[in-house]
Amino acid sequence: MCKKCWLVVSLLLLIIAGAGYKFMVAGDTKSSADGRLAIQLNPSERDLVLAEMRSFLSSIQQISSGISEADFKLISEQARLSGGAAQQGVPASLMGKLPMAFKKLGFDTHQKFDLLAMDAEQLQDKEHTLKQMSTLMNNCVACHAAYQIETIKTRQ
Ligand code: HEC
Repeated sequence: MCKKCWLVVSLLLLIIAGAGYKFMVAGDTKSSADGRLAIQLNPSERDLVLAEMRSFLSSIQQISSGISEADFKLISEQARLSGGAAQQGVPASLMGKLPMAFKKLGFDTHQKFDLLAMDAEQLQDKEHTLKQMSTLMNNCVACHAAYQIETIKTRQ
């Protein structure tokens, strides 16, 4: 192949790699005044993420209540509401705006809810569930310390 062709091919590969990095790893973020990374989302994407957050909080409240009453059915039902099934239906366009570390923490949180649900059913051990909830909540703390959402007015 000619020298120029190689140059064009290399450039194209660089552009593709750059776009892949942006979509898969970096997401769409800006630094913010309080030191956290501000993820740039449009209003409907922000609503979707925050609705998931309120559902997380509700699950945590119900699980605590389940622990205090030794109601393992309630615990597993409520934990499953925030498990892996809940993350389906997140549009690819939104996924592309979330940094990889954010997505990892998010997936891990859903998985931990599923594990908590399964263990509550099978082991029926309050202390174990409480310990799992405490570990799981480290993810809430870590993610909130690192990220915030900034709403952008433009579409997508
Ligand atoms: C992967 C990251 C991540 C994880 C994990 C996470 N959050 Fe969030 N959460 C966020 C971000 C980002 C916001 C928006 C914060 C901001 O803009 O200041 C938020 C906001 C919230 C809000 C406010 C919702 C609203 O309507 O304003 C609640 C409540 C919340 N999270 C609860 C939780 C709980 C409980 C957990 C753990 C079970 C959790 N979150 C785990 C990232 C996360």
